[in-house]
Amino acid sequence: MCGIIGYIGNKNAVPILMEGLKRLEYRGYDSSGIGLINRKKLSVHKKEGKISVLEKTLSKTIHGKSGIAHTRWATHGQVNDINAHPQVSANGRIAVVHNGIIDNYSSLKSRLTSEGFKFQSETDTEVIAHLLQKYYTGDPEEAVQKALAQLDGTYGLIILFLDHPDILIGARNGSPLVVGVGEKEMLLASDVNALIAHTRQVFYVEDRETVLITKDSYKTVNMNNSVVSKQIEKIEWEMAEFEKGDFNHFMLKEIFEQPEVIRRSYGGGGRLLPGFGTAKLGGLNIEKSEYFDIDNIVTMGMGTAYYAAMIGAYLLENMARIPTVAEQSSELRYRNTIVRKGTLFFAVSQSGETLDTLTAMREIQNRGGRVLGICNSVGSTIARESDGGVYIHAGPEIAVASTKAFISQVSVFFLLALMLGRMRDIPTSAGKQYISELTAIPDKISEILEKADELKTLANKYKHYKNILFLSRGINYPVALEGALKLKEISYIHAEGFSAGDIKHGPIALVNEETPSLFIVTKGETFDKLLGNMEEIKARKGKVIAISNSEDNRIKDLSDDFFLIPESHEMVSPLLTVIPLQLFAYYIADALGKDVDQPRNLAKTVTVE
Ligand code: F6R
Repeated sequence: MCGIIGYIGNKNAVPILMEGLKRLEYRGYDSSGIGLINRKKLSVHKKEGKISVLEKTLSKTIHGKSGIAHTRWATHGQVNDINAHPQVSANGRIAVVHNGIIDNYSSLKSRLTSEGFKFQSETDTEVIAHLLQKYYTGDPEEAVQKALAQLDGTYGLIILFLDHPDILIGARNGSPLVVGVGEKEMLLASDVNALIAHTRQVFYVEDRETVLITKDSYKTVNMNNSVVSKQIEKIEWEMAEFEKGDFNHFMLKEIFEQPEVIRRSYGGGGRLLPGFGTAKLGGLNIEKSEYFDIDNIVTMGMGTAYYAAMIGAYLLENMARIPTVAEQSSELRYRNTIVRKGTLFFAVSQSGETLDTLTAMREIQNRGGRVLGICNSVGSTIARESDGGVYIHAGPEIAVASTKAFISQVSVFFLLALMLGRMRDIPTSAGKQYISELTAIPDKISEILEKADELKTLANKYKHYKNILFLSRGINYPVALEGALKLKEISYIHAEGFSAGDIKHGPIALVNEETPSLFIVTKGETFDKLLGNMEEIKARKGKVIAISNSEDNRIKDLSDDFFLIPESHEMVSPLLTVIPLQLFAYYIADALGKDVDQPRNLAKTVTVE
């Protein structure tokens, strides 16, 4: 949550920081602020609302060659100008931007108050600014080390000292921080997105490290004040991937990228061995013989990533015949989960920074377990700290609502299930069949996207309903959950997903003329059962929308609206069934005039528990 950026160099920091903030806005967008040093003065400008609000209030004359900036997702204190960052020390000489939560802020605040410090804001961050003032006696690095020693909690920090305009200091514990190394300029940010317009050369700050940058040098130290050497990495993502292009929203652009994204998930073929009917995945860091020691698998994630993890569990059980369960990372972390030698864990995360998943991963690793990551963001914390893993290569996902990352995560699970399945029970011919099913998916997604207008019409018909249910069974049950999540998060219409078998055990009480049900009905074992469930809804005057790969007249008779998708093997069907649900949610939210890419109360990267 919260995006932070700092700049130091020969250029005016203002446009660089504002541009960087816009690229970080998806992390939080309730208020923003900028702090600069110019002509021996520290100036701070903060505004409630989106970054565009701050931008309008900034005079063209302000500038500075070093500065820090922040876009906020409120945790402590209301959304207003005062609680926006930077937070400034009582003497007005030190400014701080912070991403994370200081758990012991209230005891620190009481202590500082009794020592005479006056607090302006309700934030936890302000204690850091005052602590820095308290410990500053001329040496900024010493002040930072002493202040950090007082903090419990998570932080990504960038600090500006009026007395030292030639340096910025960053610190990290639990919230990401990356340094961009440019030509006579240096940047610090919570996310590479914010840097790559200026430099592709980056290195990551690790937990409990602080970094001091000048315009042409950097120095990283750990908590013992020992220098840590850093390896510079090159970021490969293209700038165009961060632009909306001809689309009105990033979400729509990302939905339409999905044929290509699926191709990338199997490496354009590079992750497939068609002759052997299997997949090959580098980076798992598992010896071939060790695969036979896997007794069971646990997949985990949050939100959309959790639904991908649920589908992953389904694929691994069905294709690899390995007992697998999916769990929300936040639950797994605190329930004294069983970690055994034969258990393999998968942490699924687009951002690779989700704290619920990161803390669950660390807990398992500390107990001796092995956790593999399925991540999108290269170099993210989960990607770096996992014991191995697979990148999904979906490219930057900017819209807060996840779309292309979901199908890439599912596709990678399919590859894993195929690989492990071929080592066990799947014969070559069936493996080859699975490969051709997967490689046919991009064109089938394109077929669905060509009918986007049909979904727009459908969306206009249903946009005024207050509640919508999403129902399916089997491997498409998590897709029903994902469809409901997409709709609620961007349109604010109340939507719930259920397994169609479960509705008669309670949720069917919600059904009436005012509550439509969207069914995902694919050919397979539960086809007739789903038809029965549709009958149950119709009998209670509920409207039925069916998304199906079958043209069976019985579905058409039972549904008020019907959307046909291409046929596929059941195991790859989620890669198709989810597409109409994404577009349905998008078109409803857009028709209702909602802020599709930045829905209220949400943030893209959730770095608090
Ligand atoms: C929903 C959505 C969230 C994320 C969740 C996990 O559209 O985007 O539910 O899926 O916050 O995020 P990552 O995948 O970054 O761990």
